[in-house]
Amino acid sequence: MSAPIVRVAGLHKSFGSLEVLKGVDMQINAGEVIVVFGRSGSGKSTFLRCINFLEEPTQGTIEVAGRSIAAGIPTRFRRKQVQHLRRTCGMVFQQFNLFPHMSVLDNVMEAPRRISTQSAKQVRDHAMSLLADVGLADKAAEYPIRLSGGQQQRVAIARALAMRPQVMLFDEPTSALDPELIHEVLAVMRNLAQDHSTTMIVVTHEMGFAREVATRMCFFHEGRIHEQCEPEQMFDGSRLPETQRFLDAVM
Ligand SMILES: Nc1ncnc2c1ncn2[C@@H]1O[C@H](COP(=O)(O)OP(=O)(O)OP(=O)(O)O)[C@@H](O)[C@H]1O
Ligand SMILES: [Mg+2]
Repeated sequence: MSAPIVRVAGLHKSFGSLEVLKGVDMQINAGEVIVVFGRSGSGKSTFLRCINFLEEPTQGTIEVAGRSIAAGIPTRFRRKQVQHLRRTCGMVFQQFNLFPHMSVLDNVMEAPRRISTQSAKQVRDHAMSLLADVGLADKAAEYPIRLSGGQQQRVAIARALAMRPQVMLFDEPTSALDPELIHEVLAVMRNLAQDHSTTMIVVTHEMGFAREVATRMCFFHEGRIHEQCEPEQMFDGSRLPETQRFLDAVM
């Protein structure tokens, strides 16, 4: 068995006196698709943001692709590790956060262009093939404002993939979209999941998606993983009361 690609151990996060994460442990094997769900304020976004150190954990260790960072290590001693983390983990947010002054293609090329050892042509070819994968090759020259929300989110996914991340973090990527645009974004994510080359952690309440592609579902409750299991068991109706109540409410 290969070592887990993501290892979260004893993760705590407080904002002042508010303890948001109260000890989260998670090990994820390469190719797994983890769906995280739970009530608003249960710490789902904070959990994702701690994984790539967009938030500084108060306590605990994050290890991704063989390199670990412990909370509390002074910034100057861990710059390289954080850089490695950010490159290894692509992130897609609820709000697409595209650069408005850049074309779709430039949005996708921006990061690899800055750091990569690839030639300009390689960066461009890769970006174009990612845009084709998300069904937007014909929009390469457009500006984000001229795209629908679903199209913008697909560009955001292509942009995150441009760094060839081993792990993709999705924070409610469809919850800002009109219902008729959700399916096109989920379709792109489903393709990515079924490809098995990218490990995914997806915060979402799209239970159909979870049932179809998740290898594991984790219910967050009050800053802890309250319950986790495979989707089949999750939906079979014998869950802990808090989990069941939440599932009943969203389904
Ligand atoms: N930067 C911050 N400063 C202070 N408090 C914060 C900060 N970020 C999050 N919180 C608080 O931490 C708690 C958990 O927030 P988080 O965003 O992780 O929840 P969530 O599960 O993602 O919720 P939602 O479903 O609404 O997105 C909330 O009470 C929130 O107000
Ligand atoms: Mg959130």
